[in-house]
Amino acid sequence: MPKIKFMPSGIEVQARDGEALLDIALANDVSIQHACGGFCACTTCHCEILEGESNLLPPDEDELERLGVLDQRTPRSRLACQSKVKGDVTVRVVNPE
Ligand code: FES
Repeated sequence: MPKIKFMPSGIEVQARDGEALLDIALANDVSIQHACGGFCACTTCHCEILEGESNLLPPDEDELERLGVLDQRTPRSRLACQSKVKGDVTVRVVNPE
């Protein structure tokens, strides 16, 4: 089972293969904004992948388009609602609630 560590809280949890970072966070009381409810429409679930980027499925066209309009985008940026895990990941939540 993938292990996911959320920063800055330091909360570390186990997840199922294919589960999205947003769903993992919400199921484990990790604070993260998600204004559109996880439909790739708002970018408030922006996160930075600190470790394990290759343990996420790659972004699809919709996610890349959303990331493209994000002011704070970095090369490690992903949208938590679209990022599905397949291994261990450490992630920084950019917009806690
Ligand atoms: S929750 Fe809106 S884009 Fe992820």
